[in-house]
Order: sequence, then structure tokens, then C-alpha cells
Amino acid sequence: RDADLGARNTFRVPARAPLLIEVMRLDALDAALGHAGGAAPLVLGGGSNLLFAGDAPGPVLSLQARGIAIVGDAGDRAVVRAEGGAQWHALVRWTLEHGLCGLENLALIPGTVGAAPIQNIGAYGVEVGEFVHAVEAFVPGAGMRRLGPAECGFGYRDSVFKRDGQGWIVTAVEFSLPRDAAPRTGYAGVREALAAAGISDPSPMQVFDAVCALRRSKLPDPATIGNAGSFFKNPVLPLAQAQALAGRHPGLPLFPGADAGSRKLSAAWLIDACGWKGHRDGDAGVSERHALVLVNHGSASGAQLLALARRIAGSVEERFGVALEPEPRIVGARW
Ligand code: EPU
Repeated sequence: RDADLGARNTFRVPARAPLLIEVMRLDALDAALGHAGGAAPLVLGGGSNLLFAGDAPGPVLSLQARGIAIVGDAGDRAVVRAEGGAQWHALVRWTLEHGLCGLENLALIPGTVGAAPIQNIGAYGVEVGEFVHAVEAFVPGAGMRRLGPAECGFGYRDSVFKRDGQGWIVTAVEFSLPRDAAPRTGYAGVREALAAAGISDPSPMQVFDAVCALRRSKLPDPATIGNAGSFFKNPVLPLAQAQALAGRHPGLPLFPGADAGSRKLSAAWLIDACGWKGHRDGDAGVSERHALVLVNHGSASGAQLLALARRIAGSVEERFGVALEPEPRIVGARW
């Protein structure tokens, strides 16, 4: 009761919860939810994709079940089942060590397996949704459900779990992974890192190492400085609008959108162009390494970080006419 969440969020901002329930085994989830008195709890994974702008309004649930196993084998592919509390990066390493590939571009992403499908984590040209075989989730009041990949409704940093607000608790995820597949090295940063290391035909493990090195050099480590990765999503615009904007602002990079008719803009570039990189309002700041990452230099509150985020979004909107949306979940305030 009255739990301190300061060490349970990677922004390391102060926050409390009236009740914190830790569930060690999935078969104890139902009973544990009974303690929450019927209220849908806030599910806390690694705390690496949320900002506490205030205290948690109700009970918080933390899943500690971390099992990983191969549960299906179809010759050239295998199905790996991981429980929601497993560390994402530990799973990526485990799959590679077991001769399974596909997840190497997603190395070193902070957080848990249970959180991965909710925002469809992605990096360096790969999104987790491509490898999801099934998601097992508990819906308070409705019980356990098992969803196939199509039912998960994956989009860019989006899924049915994020959209519909039913209080999904992802308990386990199954991944269908190839035993042998050419690693995806199209993303410029990965390609350059491999070339610099003199590797022309990389193994999945070499891509894993390159991605780890790239993330360590480009993104601030939450263990050293409080942050939650990208704070804003990259805005997606219709093709014509994106091209018109790029025409007016030379250098503005455009990335492929979900389809031929859209383009993804670089939120980092827009923020950088407005001069925010390295900016500080007290202890709330923008990383010096990456304009898309807000950082807590020590004793910033969530409300202070949120205020800074709003100022950044306001200046991008004013200069480029593009609305930025936060990527992490904001608790205790509305965007
Ligand atoms: N850039 C700047 N200034 C900066 C940093 C980047 O102008 O300070 C520009 C550069 O032109 C660069 C471009 O932004 O080419 C893209 O930068 P980067 O490759 O770092 O990717 P991103 O679009 O900023 C996204 C994801 C990251 C993911 C990387 C790599 C989102 C919201 N973020 O960032 O995911 O690691 O691509 O795939 O989609 C996260 O979600 O928390 C996250 C870190």
C-alpha cells in the first residue's frame, strides 16, 4: 500500500500508487486482481514507456512471470513463448542463442515482453508485430483471451491493446521466428555500423551487436540519466503534404509511411531545427545526443517534463504546422 514508484519508472520522477500488486505466477493473476477490488489496474512493465505527470490514480500491477520456452517447431521456424514479465532484451538474446533470428534489430529496447505488443515496439526497420504469432491477454471482467496477429491491429507504435482502453493485461506473447533468414540491414545507421566494422555478410548476432553499439552511441542510457526513449512519435503525413513541407524546408528527411500514399517525418529533425537539443528547464531537458528524447537531469517532476514537452510541441506546430503526439503513456494528465 502507498507504494513508491520512483524507482519503477525510467524517467525516475517521483510518483506513488495507493496499491502495488506484484504477480509472480500467471495462474495467480485472477486472485491478485481480486485485491484490486475490481478496478482495472495500471499495468507497469519496465516503466520505460510512461511518464507519471502525477500519482497513479488506482492500483498498479506488475507482472514478474518471466519464463521463456520453445513451444512449437515447424522445421524452418519455431514458436517461442515468453511470459509478460520477461525483459525484452533478455528475450532477444535468448532467441539468438537458440538459433532463431528476426528480433536482432530490436536489441536493447528497454522494457518487458508484455509491453512490446502494446505499442508495437520497433527500431531499425523492424517492428515486433511482424513476428507475433499470438498474444495472450487478460481483460478485467472478461477473462483470458488469445489473439492472432491480425486481431492485434498492429500499426506504427500502435495496437488494439493501446487503442481500445479496455485495460488489457498482456500475460504472454508467442513469436514465430525463422531459423535462417537474411538480417535486415537497410536502415542507414545499421548499414554504416556494419560497414565500419568491415562486415559485409552479417550474421544475426553481428547485427545484434551493431544495433547495441548504435543505440549505446545515439541514445542516452536510462540507467545513467532518466528518460523513456523517444518522447514523440514521428508524424505521418499524406505524401503531397509531406513533400510540400520538405520543399519548403531543405534537409527535412522523409521516411516511408505505412503505404505509398504517406510519409513519416522525423520528429527529431523538427525539434532539432527549433533549437531544443540540449535545452534545459531546470532538471527537465532535451538530450544532447538525440532531440527526440526528454531527460530528467536529477530532480525534475513529471509535470515539469510534461510542461517542457508541451512547449516543444507548440514550437514545432508554430514553425512547421505539424502536431506532435507523445509516444509514452502519460499518467495523471491529459496531453
Ligand atoms: N535527427 C536529428 N536530430 C537528432 C537526432 C536525429 O535531426 O538529434 C534526425 C536525423 O536526420 C536522423 C533522423 O532524425 O536521420 C532519424 O533519427 P533516428 O535514426 O535516431 O530515428 P528516430 O526516427 O528519431 C525512431 C524510433 C526509435 C528507434 C529509431 C531507430 C520513434 C518514435 N522512434 O527514432 O525508437 O530506435 O527510430 O529505428 O519511432 C522509441 O520508440 O523509444 C525509440 C527510441
